[in-house]
Amino acid sequence: MIAKDKIQSDKLPKHVGIIMDGNGRWAKQKGKIRMFGHRSGVIAVKETVEMAAELGIQYLTLYAFSTENWKRPKIEINALMELLVSTIHKETKTLNENNIRLSAIGDIESLPSSCRRELKEAIELTKNNTRMTLVLALSYSSRWELTRAMQTIAEKVSRKELKPEDISEETIQNHLNTSGIPDPELLIRTSGEHRISNFLLWQIAYTELYFTEKLWPDFRKEDFCEAIINFQNRERRFGKISEQIKSS
Ligand code: IPE
Ligand code: IPE
Ligand code: MG
Repeated sequence: MIAKDKIQSDKLPKHVGIIMDGNGRWAKQKGKIRMFGHRSGVIAVKETVEMAAELGIQYLTLYAFSTENWKRPKIEINALMELLVSTIHKETKTLNENNIRLSAIGDIESLPSSCRRELKEAIELTKNNTRMTLVLALSYSSRWELTRAMQTIAEKVSRKELKPEDISEETIQNHLNTSGIPDPELLIRTSGEHRISNFLLWQIAYTELYFTEKLWPDFRKEDFCEAIINFQNRERRFGKISEQIKSS
């Protein structure tokens, strides 16, 4: 593989997030129903997970279903939930073989019970794996996550377990679903849309954004590698000036 050889192993992002978008349009282009696109998207997921683990990425977060996606037609939601259950069921063995831990962020309790059960079982069965953590964002939105965090913090303040003046960035971080996971250094969105769609708003404060025209079902290992190479060629300044970065 050509792209993979260009990747510098000492400059890898620890955490990569992906907004997997374009399944519906991909199917439409082929004259098929939207679900055909979602099903084909599973191949892209498998390729990406495999490549990320192979490269040594520690955390991969995939935006699979947003809070707003509950507004889609019922028939699509149901089919997506079924696809989720069957994919998790089929892939747990492969995750274990590859030493990959499964985790989830989002309002998991809002998922249908079969989904919740399958997800919890896969999380339990893979909990001791150490090579990479695959985080699925399900019924997730950043505003939901931040609202919930604020509620919990406010409860602690009202019970006098926490003083308002002691609330720090770290306190907020610790109350997010992603607590314990480093912020993503790289966020990829497929399908040519240039927006964040309520994904990890707090966590992407300094994340490098990468947009590709590729529709999600066409996304392959090579495309993931291209995104990593693009990331590695950027200068991350974090508010400083270029000379300060070069001398450190
Ligand atoms: C992304 O593909 C998958 C989900 C949001 C579940 P879409 O279903 O959004 O596909 P487009 O954007 O309509 O092409
Ligand atoms: C974002 O895609 C959510 C996921 C990829 C799960 P959408 O297709 O739902 O986003 P919008 O509505 O185009 O912003
Ligand atoms: Mg979309």
